[in-house]
Amino acid sequence: MQTAAQWSSRWMFILAATGSAVGLGNIWKFPYIAGENGGGAFVLVYLACVFSIGIPVMMAEIMIGRRGQQSPINAMHTLAVEAKQHPIWKGIGWSGVIAGFLILSFYSVIAGWALAYIPKMLSGTFSGITPEGAGQVFNTLTANPWMLLLWHSLFMGMTIFVIAQGVEKGLEKAVSVLMPTLFFLLVALVIYAAVSSGHFMQGVHFLFDTDFQALFYPGCNPEQGVTCEMSWQGVLSAMGLAFFSLSIGMGAIMMYGAYLPKTTPITSTTVTIAIADSLVALLAGLAIFPIVFANGLDPSSGPGLVFVTLPIAFGQMDGGVIFGSLFFILLVFAAWTSAFSLLEPVVAWLVESWQLSRSHAAIGCGFLIWLLGILSILSFNNWSDFHPLAFLGDNVFATKNFFDLFDYITSNIMLPLGGLFIAIFAAWIMSHSARCEEMGGEPADISYHTWLFLIRYVTPLGVLLVFLNAVGLLKFG
Ligand code: TRP
Repeated sequence: MQTAAQWSSRWMFILAATGSAVGLGNIWKFPYIAGENGGGAFVLVYLACVFSIGIPVMMAEIMIGRRGQQSPINAMHTLAVEAKQHPIWKGIGWSGVIAGFLILSFYSVIAGWALAYIPKMLSGTFSGITPEGAGQVFNTLTANPWMLLLWHSLFMGMTIFVIAQGVEKGLEKAVSVLMPTLFFLLVALVIYAAVSSGHFMQGVHFLFDTDFQALFYPGCNPEQGVTCEMSWQGVLSAMGLAFFSLSIGMGAIMMYGAYLPKTTPITSTTVTIAIADSLVALLAGLAIFPIVFANGLDPSSGPGLVFVTLPIAFGQMDGGVIFGSLFFILLVFAAWTSAFSLLEPVVAWLVESWQLSRSHAAIGCGFLIWLLGILSILSFNNWSDFHPLAFLGDNVFATKNFFDLFDYITSNIMLPLGGLFIAIFAAWIMSHSARCEEMGGEPADISYHTWLFLIRYVTPLGVLLVFLNAVGLLKFG
């Protein structure tokens, strides 16, 4: 069955795909993970992953989606058959569905925090607040599972509502207003951080001075008796974050690619999206770290970082009530446009293959994801010390609660693995003529050859190398 929908223009695809890419990953995750991994060197590795792995995989996804003209599961099936291969390749679509469920389940909980902050901001809770006070507001929220459930339910409801209607009209309208506004607000915040925090350069140094010691030897401090052990976990996190932030590795961009007009050039479109996405992440870092240093906060304080630092800044600035409320509203919108792309692939598949109505499919899947989200909610309070995989013994999984596990397994394992198989399929399984057709036809130009080289060799070897090192099978250095 063919997917009828199509973006009304190339620009709409760029906005929708950027809407998918730009989200909590850029504004919430990037700063705190960069903070946990020591800053500059992590940022450099992250950007290297975006350009050498992220862009080629995103191009492959768009190409496969547009050629398949259906949801990822069916598109992979169609293209595997076209290439005379076993339909097992649609497993890429299936693993994407599972990854999408897991990601959206915790994503919605965090988006719920942003929702909860809107009334807090509006009512002036943060006006003139101390850093301790801001920390306390955050801790009080996350300690209360019922509050978190309320906001998580609202966010899932909002997401289901839009997907149930069909995204094209509503989505196009929403993203064309929200994305530019979000961008300007972020720039304004960075300017505020630059002129008023007095610590702007400290933030710049933290983000751009490359201290590889901090990346490869986390927590290393021989003077205090902490031994220095080399670890590739930081590099794996950078790669995982690149996948997460670009929305690649699970079929979300593949799905949006299915709605892409045949005439749109894939390379320049993808580069635009990737640059916009990286820019927002860097801007978020530049807005946040000066405030972190100005208030003596810890850059490695984890998921609460943005929810504690920004309110302090808003609390001190003129017009902070309005500005702060606006910021969290836009953060919710950024998360919302990302959530669409997490739910859409499975809903489109149910509509195509099971003839379900869009609304039934959206409500059904949304309900299951909502249920799964409860595990993440409890990870911030009642079950924060419950480590479901502790029985595996001494490894990275053993000390993680449900939220940490969902986050780690999707970003650092499922998305890179999905991306690896997408790369292999596009680079080695699809026929030359099929690839060329999608990339603008014969004669193949320089961008095609650059892409083919990256997706054939650089992407697969890069992913494997980081994987193998991180699990400690190969030890370099
Ligand atoms: N990229 C989004 C963010 O940065 C999250 C997201 C949306 C996503 N769709 C995805 C992540 C698909 C992985 C896969 O917040």
